[in-house]
Amino acid sequence: MLQNQYFSSCLSTIVRFGLDIVKNELLREIRLANKSRVFIATDAGLVKTGLIETITAILMENEIESVVFSEVEPNPQVETIMRGGTIYTQNSCDMILAIGGGSSMDFAKAVGVVVTHSGHILDYRRGEKVVANSIPLLFAIPTTVGTGSEVTAAAVVTDPIVGRKYVVPSSFLVPKMAFIDPLMTITLPKHHVSATALDALVHAIESYTSVRATPISDGLALQAIRMIRENLPASYANPDNLETRAQIQLASTIAGMAFSLAGLGLVHSCSHPMSAVYNVPHGIANAILLPYVIQYNLISNIKKYAEIARIFQPELVLKNDQAASDEIVGILTSFNALVDIPKDFGYLGIEVTDDVIDRLASDAMDDKGTIPSNPRKVYKEDVVKIYNQVLPR
Ligand SMILES: [Fe+2]
Repeated sequence: MLQNQYFSSCLSTIVRFGLDIVKNELLREIRLANKSRVFIATDAGLVKTGLIETITAILMENEIESVVFSEVEPNPQVETIMRGGTIYTQNSCDMILAIGGGSSMDFAKAVGVVVTHSGHILDYRRGEKVVANSIPLLFAIPTTVGTGSEVTAAAVVTDPIVGRKYVVPSSFLVPKMAFIDPLMTITLPKHHVSATALDALVHAIESYTSVRATPISDGLALQAIRMIRENLPASYANPDNLETRAQIQLASTIAGMAFSLAGLGLVHSCSHPMSAVYNVPHGIANAILLPYVIQYNLISNIKKYAEIARIFQPELVLKNDQAASDEIVGILTSFNALVDIPKDFGYLGIEVTDDVIDRLASDAMDDKGTIPSNPRKVYKEDVVKIYNQVLPR
């Protein structure tokens, strides 16, 4: 047993949580860091809400200049990242503040790489070229839930020319500080919250069952699963309840910490091609795939899947691990249905051929950041079977 426990564990983001923490603490932290020219990575939608102006006004009153880059698109593209890097450098910025969802945070990390390293961001995909230096000081203010990007050591970038998403991995990419302020998520539509909360649930389940899981990541993952189980149905039924939404937001960050330590698995391997090729939102793709992939993975760790099932149905403590784990696929399918997630991708109305399935399966198998940490060894023919289940003809 002890021979198998040989690991290092480091969570380096300072997480600051609380109502109004952005208004109360952001300026102080930027001043403490002695920064004066902030590159703000965000999207046009957030500019329209007035949030960015509120933050830049606070900074300006205190003689801190900001350069707002608001062209971040969903699934940030490599060209946009290179353009952001040029603007950062031209304006002599000295730190990056990401405000937005996972896309803004991924974009900010990737800009951090290109302003401190030579070449193109694609050179650093999958660690092909190593991110060898620190990036500029990076603070993150997530305005959505789910991605956990505010505490993770990777950026996901999209190359639209080949229709692929790539991970740029490096411990240098971890934001120095994350401000988790429930007021930032108040305007999110409930469907958005449910899909992204299920992404966080997938993060927690995949890290808990990962081959790289440790007792430290397990503790974080189980807590995130409990919080999402307890709060998502109530938040969906009553979207104005700030308390339940705040719990989901915090659970997303905790799930992010879990997977930054333990990695992800086959749900993400299969969902990335669905987003890259068909533009399916990441959380929805993950939520749909989760029960099918767990059906495949179940045999690899009956004990852990039984533990997850018991969080959802505490009465399963009366059953042994095999019987409890047998319930998990049904439990997660019902949990998805509670928040109106489709049971498969049939709703896309896409033409599915064997060639399509083959290409998706090849891309999934090529997802080098997730396939190795899946609890069951993955073969392409198994991935083909999973895609055939979720893409009905
Ligand atoms: Fe995810």
